Amino acid sequence: MQTPPTLQAIRYQRGSLLILDQLKLPDETVYISIHTADDAWKAIHTMTIRGAPAIAVCGILSVAVELHNSRSKFDSISSVIQFITHQLNYLVTARPTAVNMTDAAKTIIDYLIPLNNKQQNLTLYIDELLDFMEQFLQRDLIDNRLIGQYGAETMCQYISNKKKLNILTHCNTGSLATVGFGTALGIIRQLAANNVLQLAYFTETRPYNQGSRLTAYELVHDRIPHTMICDSMAGLLMRTQPIHAVIVGADRVTANGDTANKIGTYQLAILAKHHDIPFYIAAPTTSIDLSKKSGDEIIIEQRPSSEMTTVKGINLAPEGVQVWNPAFDVTPASLITGIITEHGVFKPDELEEKLLNLQRSLISPL
Ligand code: MRU
Repeated sequence: MQTPPTLQAIRYQRGSLLILDQLKLPDETVYISIHTADDAWKAIHTMTIRGAPAIAVCGILSVAVELHNSRSKFDSISSVIQFITHQLNYLVTARPTAVNMTDAAKTIIDYLIPLNNKQQNLTLYIDELLDFMEQFLQRDLIDNRLIGQYGAETMCQYISNKKKLNILTHCNTGSLATVGFGTALGIIRQLAANNVLQLAYFTETRPYNQGSRLTAYELVHDRIPHTMICDSMAGLLMRTQPIHAVIVGADRVTANGDTANKIGTYQLAILAKHHDIPFYIAAPTTSIDLSKKSGDEIIIEQRPSSEMTTVKGINLAPEGVQVWNPAFDVTPASLITGIITEHGVFKPDELEEKLLNLQRSLISPL
Protein backbone atom coordinates (compact mmCIF):
# COMPACT_ATOMS: atom_id res chain seq x y z
CA MET A 1 0.00 0.00 0.00
CA GLN A 2 1.08 3.61 -0.68
CA THR A 3 2.93 5.51 2.05
CA PRO A 4 2.83 9.35 2.34
CA PRO A 5 5.92 11.49 1.51
CA THR A 6 8.47 11.48 4.34
CA LEU A 7 10.96 14.00 5.74
CA GLN A 8 14.28 14.41 3.91
CA ALA A 9 17.58 14.30 5.78
CA ILE A 10 19.58 14.72 2.56
CA ARG A 11 18.91 16.90 -0.48
CA TYR A 12 21.28 16.42 -3.37
CA GLN A 13 21.76 17.49 -6.92
CA ARG A 14 25.03 17.39 -8.79
CA GLY A 15 27.34 19.99 -7.21
CA SER A 16 25.09 20.68 -4.21
CA LEU A 17 24.49 18.78 -0.96
CA LEU A 18 22.16 19.98 1.78
CA ILE A 19 21.59 18.14 5.04
CA LEU A 20 18.90 18.72 7.63
CA ASP A 21 20.57 19.92 10.85
CA GLN A 22 19.38 17.22 13.27
CA LEU A 23 20.87 19.05 16.25
CA LYS A 24 18.20 21.73 15.79
CA LEU A 25 15.24 19.33 15.51
CA PRO A 26 12.47 19.36 16.56
CA ASP A 27 12.53 23.13 17.20
CA GLU A 28 13.89 24.36 13.87
CA THR A 29 14.04 22.91 10.37
CA VAL A 30 17.32 24.20 8.95
CA TYR A 31 19.25 22.76 6.01
CA ILE A 32 23.00 23.35 5.89
CA SER A 33 25.29 23.16 2.87
CA ILE A 34 28.04 20.58 2.72
CA HIS A 35 30.78 21.60 0.27
CA THR A 36 33.62 19.23 1.14
CA ALA A 37 34.47 15.90 2.77
CA ASP A 38 35.79 17.95 5.68
CA ASP A 39 32.36 19.58 6.15
CA ALA A 40 30.78 16.12 6.08
CA TRP A 41 33.31 14.71 8.57
CA LYS A 42 32.40 17.48 11.03
CA ALA A 43 28.65 17.05 10.46
CA ILE A 44 28.93 13.29 11.06
CA HIS A 45 31.22 13.64 14.07
CA THR A 46 28.97 16.21 15.77
CA MET A 47 25.87 14.17 14.83
CA THR A 48 24.38 17.01 12.82
CA ILE A 49 23.59 14.06 10.57
CA ARG A 50 23.42 10.58 12.10
CA GLY A 51 22.04 7.11 11.50
CA ALA A 52 24.30 4.56 9.81
CA PRO A 53 22.91 4.75 6.23
CA ALA A 54 22.56 8.56 6.26
CA ILE A 55 26.14 8.92 7.50
CA ALA A 56 27.41 6.86 4.55
CA VAL A 57 25.34 8.64 1.91
CA CYS A 58 26.25 12.08 3.28
CA GLY A 59 29.93 11.09 3.27
CA ILE A 60 29.90 9.78 -0.30
CA LEU A 61 27.94 12.70 -1.70
CA SER A 62 30.22 15.20 0.03
CA VAL A 63 33.11 13.71 -1.94
CA ALA A 64 31.02 13.80 -5.12
CA VAL A 65 30.22 17.49 -4.57
CA GLU A 66 33.84 18.35 -3.82
CA LEU A 67 35.03 16.45 -6.90
CA HIS A 68 32.46 18.03 -9.21
CA ASN A 69 33.06 21.59 -7.98
CA SER A 70 36.84 21.34 -8.15
CA ARG A 71 37.18 19.23 -11.29
CA SER A 72 39.36 21.85 -13.00
CA LYS A 73 42.14 21.29 -10.44
CA PHE A 74 42.69 17.64 -11.51
CA ASP A 75 45.17 17.06 -14.33
CA SER A 76 45.09 13.25 -14.44
CA ILE A 77 42.99 10.25 -13.54
CA SER A 78 45.56 9.18 -10.98
CA SER A 79 45.20 12.54 -9.18
CA VAL A 80 41.44 11.92 -8.98
CA ILE A 81 41.99 8.38 -7.64
CA GLN A 82 44.38 9.71 -5.02
CA PHE A 83 41.96 12.46 -3.96
CA ILE A 84 38.89 10.19 -3.72
CA THR A 85 40.76 7.50 -1.80
CA HIS A 86 42.12 10.04 0.67
CA GLN A 87 38.76 11.72 1.29
CA LEU A 88 36.90 8.44 1.73
CA ASN A 89 39.47 7.03 4.14
CA TYR A 90 39.24 10.25 6.13
CA LEU A 91 35.43 10.08 6.31
CA VAL A 92 35.58 6.54 7.71
CA THR A 93 37.23 7.98 10.84
CA ALA A 94 34.35 10.34 11.70
CA ARG A 95 32.52 7.73 13.83
CA PRO A 96 33.79 4.21 14.50
CA THR A 97 30.83 1.89 15.19
CA ALA A 98 28.60 1.96 12.11
CA VAL A 99 30.10 0.01 9.20
CA ASN A 100 28.15 1.62 6.33
CA MET A 101 30.66 4.40 5.58
CA THR A 102 33.54 1.90 5.60
CA ASP A 103 31.60 -0.43 3.32
CA ALA A 104 30.75 2.39 0.90
CA ALA A 105 34.36 3.64 0.86
CA LYS A 106 35.58 0.15 -0.01
CA THR A 107 33.00 -0.24 -2.80
CA ILE A 108 34.01 3.08 -4.36
CA ILE A 109 37.76 2.52 -3.98
CA ASP A 110 37.32 -0.94 -5.62
CA TYR A 111 35.61 0.83 -8.53
CA LEU A 112 38.31 3.45 -9.14
CA ILE A 113 41.06 1.33 -10.74
CA PRO A 114 38.89 -0.88 -13.01
CA LEU A 115 37.14 2.30 -14.18
CA ASN A 116 40.55 3.71 -15.07
CA ASN A 117 41.25 0.63 -17.22
CA LYS A 118 37.95 1.16 -19.01
CA GLN A 119 37.92 4.95 -19.27
CA GLN A 120 41.05 6.97 -20.16
CA ASN A 121 39.41 10.36 -20.70
CA LEU A 122 39.61 12.51 -17.54
CA THR A 123 36.28 14.33 -18.02
CA LEU A 124 34.42 11.11 -18.79
CA TYR A 125 36.17 9.34 -15.92
CA ILE A 126 34.93 11.98 -13.46
CA ASP A 127 31.42 11.86 -14.94
CA GLU A 128 31.23 8.08 -14.62
CA LEU A 129 32.57 8.22 -11.09
CA LEU A 130 29.98 10.83 -10.11
CA ASP A 131 27.23 8.65 -11.61
CA PHE A 132 28.50 5.71 -9.58
CA MET A 133 28.64 7.65 -6.30
CA GLU A 134 25.19 9.12 -6.87
CA GLN A 135 23.71 5.63 -7.16
CA PHE A 136 24.11 5.17 -3.38
CA LEU A 137 21.33 7.70 -2.87
CA GLN A 138 18.75 5.76 -4.87
CA ARG A 139 20.02 2.39 -3.65
CA ASP A 140 19.37 3.29 0.00
CA LEU A 141 15.79 4.29 -0.76
CA ILE A 142 15.13 1.09 -2.72
CA ASP A 143 16.67 -1.06 0.04
CA ASN A 144 14.55 0.63 2.70
CA ARG A 145 11.36 0.06 0.74
CA LEU A 146 12.23 -3.64 0.40
CA ILE A 147 13.05 -3.89 4.11
CA GLY A 148 9.66 -2.28 4.80
CA GLN A 149 7.88 -4.85 2.64
CA TYR A 150 9.73 -7.91 4.01
CA GLY A 151 9.31 -6.59 7.54
CA ALA A 152 5.58 -5.94 7.15
CA GLU A 153 5.08 -9.45 5.68
CA THR A 154 7.02 -10.97 8.58
CA MET A 155 4.98 -9.05 11.15
CA CYS A 156 1.71 -10.43 9.70
CA GLN A 157 2.35 -13.76 11.47
CA TYR A 158 1.84 -11.96 14.80
CA ILE A 159 -1.65 -10.70 13.92
CA SER A 160 -4.24 -12.87 15.63
CA ASN A 161 -8.03 -12.43 15.84
CA LYS A 162 -7.72 -9.52 13.39
CA LYS A 163 -6.13 -7.41 16.17
CA LYS A 164 -3.68 -4.78 14.96
CA LEU A 165 -0.02 -4.78 16.00
CA ASN A 166 1.82 -2.91 18.74
CA ILE A 167 5.49 -2.55 17.87
CA LEU A 168 8.23 -1.18 20.11
CA THR A 169 11.26 0.53 18.57
CA HIS A 170 14.33 2.39 19.82
CA CYS A 171 16.44 5.33 18.64
CA ASN A 172 15.68 6.80 15.21
CA THR A 173 15.81 4.59 12.16
CA GLY A 174 13.49 6.53 9.89
CA SER A 175 13.80 9.02 7.05
CA LEU A 176 16.15 11.10 9.17
CA ALA A 177 18.58 8.19 9.59
CA THR A 178 18.52 7.17 5.93
CA VAL A 179 17.88 8.70 2.52
CA GLY A 180 14.17 8.19 3.11
CA PHE A 181 11.53 5.80 4.49
CA GLY A 182 13.86 4.15 7.01
CA THR A 183 14.62 0.63 8.23
CA ALA A 184 12.89 -0.35 11.51
CA LEU A 185 10.77 2.79 11.32
CA GLY A 186 10.19 2.04 7.64
CA ILE A 187 8.56 -1.26 8.64
CA ILE A 188 6.37 0.62 11.12
CA ARG A 189 5.52 3.08 8.35
CA GLN A 190 4.57 0.20 6.04
CA LEU A 191 2.44 -1.46 8.76
CA ALA A 192 0.61 1.86 9.26
CA ALA A 193 0.04 2.17 5.50
CA ASN A 194 -1.29 -1.41 5.45
CA ASN A 195 -3.67 -0.43 8.26
CA VAL A 196 -2.41 -3.15 10.60
CA LEU A 197 -0.58 -0.94 13.10
CA GLN A 198 -2.26 -0.21 16.43
CA LEU A 199 0.57 1.74 18.07
CA ALA A 200 4.25 2.41 17.50
CA TYR A 201 5.78 2.55 20.94
CA PHE A 202 9.20 4.16 21.01
CA THR A 203 11.76 5.06 23.64
CA GLU A 204 13.10 8.56 24.27
CA THR A 205 16.54 6.98 23.74
CA ARG A 206 18.64 8.64 26.38
CA PRO A 207 21.06 10.28 26.46
CA TYR A 208 20.92 11.77 22.97
CA ASN A 209 17.13 11.55 22.66
CA GLN A 210 16.95 10.38 19.07
CA GLY A 211 13.56 8.94 20.03
CA SER A 212 11.95 12.00 21.58
CA ARG A 213 13.54 14.49 19.17
CA LEU A 214 13.57 12.61 15.87
CA THR A 215 11.35 9.52 15.88
CA ALA A 216 8.62 11.57 17.56
CA TYR A 217 9.05 14.26 14.89
CA GLU A 218 8.68 11.71 12.09
CA LEU A 219 5.68 9.93 13.61
CA VAL A 220 3.87 13.21 14.25
CA HIS A 221 4.74 14.41 10.72
CA ASP A 222 3.44 11.19 9.15
CA ARG A 223 0.41 10.93 11.50
CA ILE A 224 1.35 7.42 12.59
CA PRO A 225 -0.33 6.33 15.86
CA HIS A 226 2.31 6.25 18.57
CA THR A 227 3.18 6.40 22.26
CA MET A 228 6.53 7.52 23.61
CA ILE A 229 8.04 5.94 26.72
CA CYS A 230 11.14 6.65 28.81
CA ASP A 231 13.80 3.98 28.30
CA SER A 232 13.23 2.81 31.88
CA MET A 233 9.56 1.99 31.17
CA ALA A 234 10.18 -0.79 28.64
CA GLY A 235 9.94 -3.62 31.19
CA LEU A 236 6.60 -2.45 32.54
CA LEU A 237 5.33 -1.85 29.01
CA MET A 238 6.15 -5.41 27.96
CA ARG A 239 4.60 -6.82 31.11
CA THR A 240 1.35 -4.87 30.92
CA GLN A 241 0.63 -4.21 27.22
CA PRO A 242 0.40 -6.56 24.27
CA ILE A 243 3.66 -5.88 22.42
CA HIS A 244 3.82 -8.06 19.32
CA ALA A 245 7.43 -7.39 18.36
CA VAL A 246 10.43 -5.18 19.02
CA ILE A 247 12.11 -3.90 15.83
CA VAL A 248 15.33 -1.87 15.92
CA GLY A 249 18.03 -0.84 13.46
CA ALA A 250 21.73 -1.75 13.34
CA ASP A 251 25.05 0.00 13.05
CA ARG A 252 27.02 -3.19 12.47
CA VAL A 253 25.96 -6.83 12.33
CA THR A 254 28.81 -9.34 12.55
CA ALA A 255 29.07 -12.73 10.81
CA ASN A 256 27.50 -14.59 13.75
CA GLY A 257 24.53 -12.18 13.91
CA ASP A 258 25.66 -10.15 16.94
CA THR A 259 24.41 -6.60 16.42
CA ALA A 260 25.71 -3.22 17.52
CA ASN A 261 22.98 -0.61 17.78
CA LYS A 262 22.07 2.41 19.87
CA ILE A 263 22.82 2.08 23.58
CA GLY A 264 19.83 0.52 25.30
CA THR A 265 19.11 -2.00 22.53
CA TYR A 266 20.69 -4.86 24.48
CA GLN A 267 18.48 -4.37 27.51
CA LEU A 268 15.38 -4.26 25.27
CA ALA A 269 16.44 -7.59 23.75
CA ILE A 270 16.84 -9.16 27.20
CA LEU A 271 13.44 -7.84 28.25
CA ALA A 272 11.87 -9.12 25.04
CA LYS A 273 13.32 -12.59 25.63
CA HIS A 274 12.00 -12.60 29.19
CA HIS A 275 8.50 -11.63 27.99
CA ASP A 276 8.56 -13.98 25.00
CA ILE A 277 8.36 -11.13 22.50
CA PRO A 278 10.08 -11.53 19.09
CA PHE A 279 13.05 -9.22 18.65
CA TYR A 280 14.03 -8.16 15.11
CA ILE A 281 16.88 -6.19 13.57
CA ALA A 282 16.05 -4.25 10.38
CA ALA A 283 19.11 -3.27 8.36
CA PRO A 284 20.41 -3.12 4.80
CA THR A 285 23.13 -5.63 3.97
CA THR A 286 25.56 -2.69 3.88
CA SER A 287 25.28 -2.78 7.71
CA ILE A 288 26.52 -6.39 7.80
CA ASP A 289 30.23 -6.85 8.36
CA LEU A 290 31.27 -10.42 7.58
CA SER A 291 34.91 -9.52 8.25
CA LYS A 292 34.12 -9.48 11.97
CA LYS A 293 33.29 -12.84 13.51
CA SER A 294 31.46 -11.59 16.59
CA GLY A 295 30.34 -8.47 18.39
CA ASP A 296 33.43 -8.59 20.62
CA GLU A 297 35.38 -7.16 17.69
CA ILE A 298 33.18 -4.06 17.29
CA ILE A 299 34.57 -0.73 18.47
CA ILE A 300 32.01 1.05 20.62
CA GLU A 301 32.07 4.82 20.27
CA GLN A 302 32.37 6.80 23.50
CA ARG A 303 30.64 10.19 23.44
CA PRO A 304 31.34 13.32 25.53
CA SER A 305 29.98 13.36 29.08
CA SER A 306 28.15 16.63 28.39
CA GLU A 307 25.63 14.67 26.31
CA MET A 308 24.53 13.01 29.55
CA THR A 309 24.97 15.82 32.01
CA THR A 310 23.34 18.70 30.10
CA VAL A 311 20.33 19.39 27.90
CA LYS A 312 20.45 22.54 25.76
CA GLY A 313 23.14 23.94 28.04
CA ILE A 314 21.20 23.28 31.26
CA ASN A 315 22.95 21.12 33.84
CA LEU A 316 21.20 17.88 34.81
CA ALA A 317 24.02 16.77 37.09
CA PRO A 318 26.52 18.55 39.33
CA GLU A 319 29.77 19.88 37.84
CA GLY A 320 32.55 17.34 38.18
CA VAL A 321 30.36 14.22 38.14
CA GLN A 322 32.13 11.25 36.51
CA VAL A 323 30.16 9.53 33.73
CA TRP A 324 30.40 6.67 31.24
CA ASN A 325 28.75 7.38 27.88
CA PRO A 326 29.02 4.54 25.34
CA ALA A 327 26.89 5.40 22.29
CA PHE A 328 26.15 1.79 21.31
CA ASP A 329 25.86 -1.69 22.76
CA VAL A 330 26.01 -5.16 21.26
CA THR A 331 23.03 -7.50 21.34
CA PRO A 332 24.10 -11.14 21.14
CA ALA A 333 22.69 -13.17 18.26
CA SER A 334 21.01 -15.55 20.73
CA LEU A 335 18.51 -12.79 21.60
CA ILE A 336 17.65 -11.96 17.97
CA THR A 337 14.68 -13.60 16.23
CA GLY A 338 15.53 -12.41 12.73
CA ILE A 339 17.44 -9.87 10.66
CA ILE A 340 15.26 -8.13 8.09
CA THR A 341 17.26 -7.03 5.05
CA GLU A 342 16.51 -5.92 1.48
CA HIS A 343 17.10 -9.54 0.42
CA GLY A 344 14.73 -11.12 2.91
CA VAL A 345 14.70 -12.16 6.56
CA PHE A 346 17.55 -14.25 7.97
CA LYS A 347 17.99 -16.06 11.24
CA PRO A 348 21.27 -14.92 12.85
CA ASP A 349 22.84 -18.39 12.52
CA GLU A 350 22.12 -18.58 8.76
CA LEU A 351 23.09 -14.99 8.00
CA GLU A 352 26.70 -15.55 6.94
CA GLU A 353 26.04 -18.52 4.67
CA LYS A 354 23.01 -16.93 3.01
CA LEU A 355 24.85 -13.67 2.40
CA LEU A 356 27.89 -15.40 0.94
CA ASN A 357 25.60 -17.39 -1.39
CA LEU A 358 23.92 -14.17 -2.40
CA GLN A 359 27.25 -12.47 -3.12
CA ARG A 360 28.34 -15.49 -5.21
CA SER A 361 25.11 -15.50 -7.22
CA LEU A 362 25.43 -11.76 -7.88
CA ILE A 363 28.96 -12.05 -9.28
CA SER A 364 28.65 -15.40 -11.09
CA PRO A 365 28.05 -15.18 -14.87
CA LEU A 366 24.52 -16.01 -16.05
O1 MRU B 1 24.16 7.61 17.19
P1 MRU B 1 23.20 7.48 16.06
O2 MRU B 1 22.00 8.37 16.20
O3 MRU B 1 23.87 7.61 14.72
O4 MRU B 1 22.68 5.98 16.17
C1 MRU B 1 21.72 5.53 15.27
C2 MRU B 1 21.36 4.10 15.49
O5 MRU B 1 21.83 3.45 16.37
C3 MRU B 1 20.44 3.49 14.48
O6 MRU B 1 19.65 2.51 15.07
C4 MRU B 1 21.26 2.85 13.35
O7 MRU B 1 22.25 3.73 12.89
C5 MRU B 1 20.39 2.46 12.22
S1 MRU B 1 19.66 3.83 11.39
C6 MRU B 1 18.76 3.19 10.11
